[in-house]
Amino acid sequence: MSIRPDRTLLAPGLEISRMVTGLWQVADMERDGRLLDRDAAASAMADYARAGFDSFDMADHYGSAELITGRFLDMQAGAEGQRPTAFTKWCPSPGPMSADVVRSGIAERLERLGVETIDLLQFHWWMFEHPGYIDAMKELVALQQEGRILHLGVTNFDTDHLRLLVKHGFPIVSNQVSFSLLDRRAGEDMSRFCLATGVRLLAYGTLGGGFLTDRWVGAPEPTSIEDWSKSKYKRFIDVIGGWPVLQTILAALQEIARKHGVSVANVATRWVLEQPAVASVIVGARLGEREHRADNAALFSFSLDEDDKQRIDEVLTSTRPIPGDCGDEYRRPPFLTASGDLSHHLESIPPVFDAFPIDGRPDRLRIDSGSVWEPICGYSRAVRIGNRILVSGTTATHGSGEIICPGDAQGQAVYILDKIAASIASLGGTLADTIRTRIYLSNADDWEPVSRVHGRYFGAVRPANTLLEISRLVGDYAVEIEAEAVVG
Ligand SMILES: NC(=O)c1ccc[n+]([C@@H]2O[C@H](COP(=O)([O-])OP(=O)(O)OC[C@H]3O[C@@H](n4cnc5c(N)ncnc54)[C@H](OP(=O)(O)O)[C@@H]3O)[C@@H](O)[C@H]2O)c1
Repeated sequence: MSIRPDRTLLAPGLEISRMVTGLWQVADMERDGRLLDRDAAASAMADYARAGFDSFDMADHYGSAELITGRFLDMQAGAEGQRPTAFTKWCPSPGPMSADVVRSGIAERLERLGVETIDLLQFHWWMFEHPGYIDAMKELVALQQEGRILHLGVTNFDTDHLRLLVKHGFPIVSNQVSFSLLDRRAGEDMSRFCLATGVRLLAYGTLGGGFLTDRWVGAPEPTSIEDWSKSKYKRFIDVIGGWPVLQTILAALQEIARKHGVSVANVATRWVLEQPAVASVIVGARLGEREHRADNAALFSFSLDEDDKQRIDEVLTSTRPIPGDCGDEYRRPPFLTASGDLSHHLESIPPVFDAFPIDGRPDRLRIDSGSVWEPICGYSRAVRIGNRILVSGTTATHGSGEIICPGDAQGQAVYILDKIAASIASLGGTLADTIRTRIYLSNADDWEPVSRVHGRYFGAVRPANTLLEISRLVGDYAVEIEAEAVVG
């Protein structure tokens, strides 16, 4: 009897395969503008489902993947056996997340998939300096309560912002992140947080786009790369030490693979699957073009023993880690995406706050963040005088007065530093221009988690800093932070 993938209960009512079939490759296959034949691609999905690979991952921008899945789900309607599951993503451009914007984004997903309820809606947000993701999450929760979304996940959220959402009370069940032998960021703070809170990881890139397979053992470095997925993971390979380092990893994987009678791909994927916070691995499929189902099923025929793990740990010591936390590859250098440098894309996003001249003087600018108190009390969120930017004492106040992460200084510090970054950017600077920060805490016990957050934002900048405990902050806040920057 053929081996079938293990299953896991991702969240109540959502049992999924531990190997999810990823459909980003559909976008690559359609990049010349010709869409895949929908019926043929849907029946290729049915072949996956029959073999137990019946959970599928896609997104709003994966070519016609949602439409193909819609056709496939239609074909499956009324069929006996396990219900196939379809996860999609909504990745809006940063901007005001009104109820209409969010509802129309989700309505489009529902329509393209042809379903009443989305099994798992994963939300991506390009820049946390823009606080719209909080409003988007609120509306997504409302849609969940109305039955249009079964479960809510996120994708490419770093630990600080995943934590912020969870501590603010949003019911996040999963974070979809890059996790592989090439990229072990998700095994650090992210896994610790997920294990402590029950959020599960859906791991992509486990095969490095195909580079972590038998095909590349001992092979020369490619001079040109044909598909998007490999273009992306070649950047990861270059960061961790280049082609010779990849070959060292592949040689170790091949030894282990031979011992268990499986493939290099199986060993690379198994290593990720055995990470404790990982619910499932997502492996990309080129529907109707190539399939590796029989080989991938062997993933569930063995497990890594202590010698294997030790051998892998040994070989990984020769690699440089990918810097930062999950999702940083989309938000800051080194941009490790298929197209490489995303800074143009990020720079094209308008500033979060509008700057106005003070007293009509162009060398004096100010911004408001929308608090009702700014005009009443006569202050600005931040001012720029010449090349100097001063940011007022900032609290984790969202919109017209909602406190983010009530009682949680660490979550508040994340929200505050994003607002400070947005303030400085709206006045023409960057966080890297910061020369001074002051942190006010209402409880000195919070000094370390807050200071560690400060370190994650300013570790490379190292502004002068003062940390104070004061008897009480105005309002029900755990922390307030002010900053000063000099541009240029
Ligand atoms: N959230 C995000 O930002 C994000 C980003 C990237 C990907 N993803 C998700 O993750 C999925 C995985 O995509 P990925 O780009 O990370 O690629 P991947 O899964 O690391 O690699 C997929 C490629 O590996 C090859 N392959 C698969 N099984 C194999 C086996 N047993 N033996 C040999 N080769 C095998 C296939 O290449 P050939 O077809 O060429 O043989 C396949 O196209 C995507 O489809 C998407 O759903 C999400």
